[in-house]
Amino acid sequence: MCGIMGYVGSQQAGPILVDGLKRLEYRGYDSAGIAVNNGTIRVQKAEGKIANLQALLEKDALDGCIGIGHTRWATHGAPTDANAHPHADPSGEFVVVHNGIIENFQAIRDELAAAGAEFSSETDSEVLAHLVAREYDGDLVAAVRKTVALCEGAYAMVVISQREPEKIVAVRKISPLVIGLGEGETYLASDIPAVLHRTRDFLIIEDDEMVIVTAEGARVETIEGDPVVREVTHIDWDAEQAEKGGYDHFMLKEIHEQPTVIAETLQGRLDEDGTVWLEDVEFDDEYIADLTGVWITACGTAYHAGLIGQEIFRRVLRLPTNVEYAHELRYADPIIGPRELMIAISQSGETADTLAAARIAPDHGSRMLAITNVVGSTLSRYADDIFYTRAGPEISVASTKAYIAMLIAQYLLALRLGAARGTVDSELAQRVAHGLHRMPGAIEEVLSREHEAVAVAERIVDADDVYFIGRGLDYAIAMEGSLKLKEISYLHSEAMPAGELKHGTLALITDGVPVVVVLTQRAVYDKTISAVQEVKARGGMIIAVAYDTDTEIEKYAELVMRIPDMDDLLAPVAAVVPLQLLAYHVARLRGHDIDQPRNLAKSVTVE
Ligand code: AGP
Repeated sequence: MCGIMGYVGSQQAGPILVDGLKRLEYRGYDSAGIAVNNGTIRVQKAEGKIANLQALLEKDALDGCIGIGHTRWATHGAPTDANAHPHADPSGEFVVVHNGIIENFQAIRDELAAAGAEFSSETDSEVLAHLVAREYDGDLVAAVRKTVALCEGAYAMVVISQREPEKIVAVRKISPLVIGLGEGETYLASDIPAVLHRTRDFLIIEDDEMVIVTAEGARVETIEGDPVVREVTHIDWDAEQAEKGGYDHFMLKEIHEQPTVIAETLQGRLDEDGTVWLEDVEFDDEYIADLTGVWITACGTAYHAGLIGQEIFRRVLRLPTNVEYAHELRYADPIIGPRELMIAISQSGETADTLAAARIAPDHGSRMLAITNVVGSTLSRYADDIFYTRAGPEISVASTKAYIAMLIAQYLLALRLGAARGTVDSELAQRVAHGLHRMPGAIEEVLSREHEAVAVAERIVDADDVYFIGRGLDYAIAMEGSLKLKEISYLHSEAMPAGELKHGTLALITDGVPVVVVLTQRAVYDKTISAVQEVKARGGMIIAVAYDTDTEIEKYAELVMRIPDMDDLLAPVAAVVPLQLLAYHVARLRGHDIDQPRNLAKSVTVE
């Protein structure tokens, strides 16, 4: 997610803005800029690190006691100087920074262009500056309110204007915004760490609220203009805790961000009737109808996301679909043809093995679609089509929110491809759309049961080995749960299809050995219970992930982590969360460095 800063007071704004942006660097970004008003608003911005911006400011500092700043995590348009924020309208009198997505920006941009507007960037954000300028009629707050009414999406936007030089006007629609209250000065930021060293008193802005900031303080209103009384929140975190949003580790923060990530990855891409809109996917229905197969390739957790995709595409598209480890596929001389689609999945978009495997596609005349979290990543530049997940920067080496976003991507692709192939009827499309739109709430519910994962963690923290089993989609989730546990707690773990246990590994199941069973696929529930009974008969300890409505599981499981009842096809999105929490709490109890596990890197850019 982008970083936002604002300041108005008696000090020079520039240094305060840059300092605040630097304190938001941990969020990840690819360009930065500030705008300062001293009667004339001036902007400095640069691609890359904040040091590049500082180099510009050393040559040409911006003078003024009111300004805004931004670190950009690219979503629309590659990381360049021109695409960096802040953005101004052509007159330069209205300047905006923005975090989030303006879904209908293209229609707005087209309308403005038809009226003669010229743009200096590829971004969705720039249209906001043009709109505020167009709507301005002597009242900046009213102009911003009119602008917001024209925009669809999830965002935070912050505006300054030469016309009303004493105020900053900001709006929050999902992307976070806080106001820091100083003595004769006021701060605005997308996250508390940016200004926690300057004040501990904050107004937390909620969704669909507007705030008018001056040196004397801040006035909060609803988007419609009704006054809001907002209590001051006193923050007593230290700086490190603040970067983690009060969580002890980025991993836990990112696990808890997953409802928002799902909402943002779905934003503007899925209608209630199941119609899918994919802005960076170019292939047409004719190409889709002609497909004879799908290949998915990735590594690690991304591979486990591909395991889910494999099952979904097989079920929903009735298309031969194979997921292959990229480090295997790259040397396998696979038989891939022009009528097969290659999907490469990579959070970083820089994993060497995945890049190598993805490049097999064009050699065989096959299109390659990238599912990645980083705009402008190497994988995105190789791809014919791109699905950008909107998980924001994932700091913890152990991938959680990016993984969930990869699942959402594949559900949407299945609907899009299935509609074109006639294998997804309106009932299925609506059912999946309904379930996905309700998923953020379901995940919030699962997160509220974190104590269940803690209880399991306390039971297995001293185990030597933990096994994960499941069938179909549940097996794919078991694989991810096992990897999460291994990579951060260093507790040996292994996952396998439930039916495979009796073909060898059962020899390892003795008294008290923990076996985690994932039980969301009702069609094979009884078959999976057979494996559970094999474990119980050897004294193994059963731990289950099961629906709230499962009344059988208590007969077998010593501990159960529950998820709300839902469509089996969508259950993986919820079922993985207890396993993420389990891994986290075992690692916490074992006292490990959770965000930076030994021997591992966030992006494996070597073979
Ligand atoms: C996941 O928790 C690991 N950090 C690792 O398996 C990771 O998923 C894998 O290296 C692939 O990374 P990518 O998604 O950036 O390609």
